[in-house]
Amino acid sequence: MKVLLLGATGNLGSRILPALLAHNHEVTAFVRNREKLQLLVPASIIANINVVQGDVTSRNDVADALCNFRIQALINAAGAAPMMPWNSSQAPQIEEAIVHALKDVGLEQRIKIRSWFVGGMLLLDVPYASQYTLYDYLPLYREDVHKLSLLESSKHLTWSCLCPGNMTPRSKAVSEVKDHVEKQRELKGLLASISVPAGWKTSILRKMPLCGGYLDVFSNLLSLRNSVHFEDVAEFIAGELENPNQLYIRKKIGLIEDGAARVET
Ligand SMILES: NC(=O)c1ccc[n+]([C@@H]2O[C@H](COP(=O)([O-])OP(=O)(O)OC[C@H]3O[C@@H](n4cnc5c(N)ncnc54)[C@H](OP(=O)(O)O)[C@@H]3O)[C@@H](O)[C@H]2O)c1
Repeated sequence: MKVLLLGATGNLGSRILPALLAHNHEVTAFVRNREKLQLLVPASIIANINVVQGDVTSRNDVADALCNFRIQALINAAGAAPMMPWNSSQAPQIEEAIVHALKDVGLEQRIKIRSWFVGGMLLLDVPYASQYTLYDYLPLYREDVHKLSLLESSKHLTWSCLCPGNMTPRSKAVSEVKDHVEKQRELKGLLASISVPAGWKTSILRKMPLCGGYLDVFSNLLSLRNSVHFEDVAEFIAGELENPNQLYIRKKIGLIEDGAARVET
């Protein structure tokens, strides 16, 4: 598939590059600083991808990249929502620009470009009370909520929104493609869930009057199992692009490291 990766110099984006090449995708990395990418990523990877320089807050820059490389799928790893609700970032402008560019190019070329976005775990529903999200209990990463409502209101898009907990690097440097493949072969993969956090374990504390719901949510949020590696999330997205199963379209997805890759619904 012809894939446009936005934010290829980021923690997650840079690790998506070897994963995409391992799955034989044709990759175009969209960055605002080409030199930074060259310092971060092995030369063997740079030699096998297209690189475009631009600003993700510009609808035209993104649309040009989509058109010029005849893109079939877009992954947005650019921009990161700040944790504290009183802080703001460029993330909302980034998402607006991408959504509009996908719409413009989709209409013009009469195609549906598959898209993947990354939000935070707090966007997921409480498993036994789907009218509430984890954000209702812990209102951090406010701008992620904007991202999800923008996607949900974009009827023309075939999006998925990954909602991992904390992501950490398995290795400091970005792997060569063959090292990425070898490492992933040793691993059991991720457990994915649709709409709710994966592997939720309802605590006995939930039965407590008044504060039971809060205690249950916080005991799950504090669970170390919510942490995932950038490299594994990268592999998950790259693998899903070639999955004919349309299970994740217009869904938010929880992910944890837990045994063989499978889906909880
Ligand atoms: N890290 C986590 O634990 C975690 C957990 C859950 C969800 N997420 C979400 O996952 C996504 C990726 O996270 P991350 O940790 O990889 O973020 P990151 O390391 O901060 O990377 C952000 C990327 O966005 C690029 N970018 C920002 N503004 C741009 C612009 N105007 N034009 C072009 N590129 C721009 C940055 O480019 P420069 O290199 O040029 O600055 C960088 O490549 C974010 O949406 C984040 O909210 C992260």
